[in-house]
Amino acid sequence: MQNSTSTSSLWRPWTPITQQANSMRIVEAKGNRVRDAEGKWYLDGISGVLNASCGHGHPRLIEAATRQFQQLVHYDPMVSTHDPAETLASRLAEIAPGELNETVLTNSGSEATEAALRIALQYWRNNGEDRNRVITFEAAYHGTTYLAQQLSGLPFTVSEWAPPFPVDHVSLPASPREIRTEEGADALIGLFTRALEAGPPAAAVMVEPLLGLGGCVVLPAGFLARLRKLCDQHGALLILDEVFCGFGRTGRMFGFDHDGITPDIVTLSKGISGGYLPLAAVMVTSSIKETFIREPIAQGLRYGHTTGGHAVAAAVGNTVLDIMADEKLVENSAAQGATLLKGLGKLESSPLIADVRGLGLVVAIEADAPESAAAIAEATARAGVMTRHERGVIRIAPPLTLTDDDTAEILQKIGTAVEDADAARR
Ligand SMILES: Cc1ncc(COP(=O)(O)O)c(C=O)c1O
Repeated sequence: MQNSTSTSSLWRPWTPITQQANSMRIVEAKGNRVRDAEGKWYLDGISGVLNASCGHGHPRLIEAATRQFQQLVHYDPMVSTHDPAETLASRLAEIAPGELNETVLTNSGSEATEAALRIALQYWRNNGEDRNRVITFEAAYHGTTYLAQQLSGLPFTVSEWAPPFPVDHVSLPASPREIRTEEGADALIGLFTRALEAGPPAAAVMVEPLLGLGGCVVLPAGFLARLRKLCDQHGALLILDEVFCGFGRTGRMFGFDHDGITPDIVTLSKGISGGYLPLAAVMVTSSIKETFIREPIAQGLRYGHTTGGHAVAAAVGNTVLDIMADEKLVENSAAQGATLLKGLGKLESSPLIADVRGLGLVVAIEADAPESAAAIAEATARAGVMTRHERGVIRIAPPLTLTDDDTAEILQKIGTAVEDADAARR
């Protein structure tokens, strides 16, 4: 039957139905480039869905997946275990700091948030304490399941349904540019202090190391260390959402490594499988897991999915770690990111640009208005570089395999797009 709302029967999420018909169709991707149905190649400035950290079509990832497909696709994670998931969990424990030794594998970042919250809330029950209040940033994005969506106060994602537990949102006390100053950092910590002091004892504070969808806001240096201290003073768990920042995106293996802290719980996805297959993880400290051994919940975690820790996805995850080490992707992220940030920072002299910020290979250009951001991003795409813009902020998060030539191309094409938009304004 003819579809009445658009020319496609595919209902894509987070996209107005009236806009679905005009979308670009991507048909091929290799290395750091993608091709559309018209045959035009683009430098992929957004790593697929911000997850293709090893680039596209990497032969080692294809080979790892093929080998695992041939040996064992997957098997019931409730009654058995398999080598790819066991190996991934122990390798994650090796690279994570401190007591973060225990891993639950899921399929998506939202499921990782869901599992992290259930573990955090159950942890307090296990300890005989009735804590269920969770504190997050208002500009947070932690995913789209019922629980995960409750954590965000962003107008475009805020849930219409009541949360099953109290959530307190901390708003940014200043603009993203001002927040990076010493005064901005103090004001921010002041708001988290107040949120922890007001109301019943908090179960957990959950934050991203960099507010991705909330405007690509780079948090002040040292903020996470101060938040860690604050959580310890109030006995609240600190949950770090590393779904976007983890696996080298910010120029360190994890975003929290910049501050040298160990969170109590960490959520991971995106870069964990380089986007090749659905995979996510929740890492918790051994002392949190130990509370699940006690009665009456000695049956363990009452949460899991059929394909959680899928053998092929886990095999890919193990090879991602090999590639990251062999190709020095964390180091490359830091180096190319610094060049990009320095080069794009020069655009701040344009009246169209309000702020340029970044950490590793995530750089944001905040325009003076959403229309300017759209015009610059569209011109950049026409020139052959894919970026993403939301609410006046252009986000660039290319694969961590970015080369010097790729970085130069991004700088040149975005620079020209800003110059042209500037000239058109006059
Ligand atoms: C920081 C963060 N947390 C959680 C999620 C949710 O992940 P998923 O889309 O895989 O459910 C995202 C997705 O963009 C994210 O950026």
